[in-house]
Amino acid sequence: MIDLTTYRLVHIVGLAVTMLAIGALTMHARAGAENPPASQGARKAATMAHGLGLVLMLVGGFGGLARLGAGWPTWVIIKMGVWVLLGGLPVLIKRKPAQATAFFWITAALVVIAGASAAFKPFA
Ligand code: HEM
Repeated sequence: MIDLTTYRLVHIVGLAVTMLAIGALTMHARAGAENPPASQGARKAATMAHGLGLVLMLVGGFGGLARLGAGWPTWVIIKMGVWVLLGGLPVLIKRKPAQATAFFWITAALVVIAGASAAFKPFA
């Protein structure tokens, strides 16, 4: 049986991989590196890492939630909203590369919201 600590680790590794990927995607877009084939490969690698990170975050998050036996509290609903927004970011970054730096910092703000939800469990 997988314990809470292991699920937390999976969750945080997923978060780290997702953040690395969004960092790469935003800076790639900012550099305007859309044309050369090598740069397309870099974007593809970052997009795949983004997907993997999101899955790990979800597995670790819901596994941990099950171990906590907390049901569906508001702090989890907030985190799910953040997760969905993080999932949509690669499309937004590709469509609006001029806003890449703004997306970078919006992502940081989303992590503050999700992290604070886990730490303080508001409206528990
Ligand atoms: C599907 C959505 C998510 C679920 C179900 C979920 C669930 C959880 C659970 C159960 C914990 C452990 C809380 C505890 O042990 O008291 C946790 C911790 C945490 N989550 Fe999430 N989470 C989700 C999304 C996110 C997202 C999107 C982020 C960041 C962008 C995030 C960041 C964190 C952080 C920083 C922690 C603190 C580490 C810890 O104490 O384990 N989570 N989450």
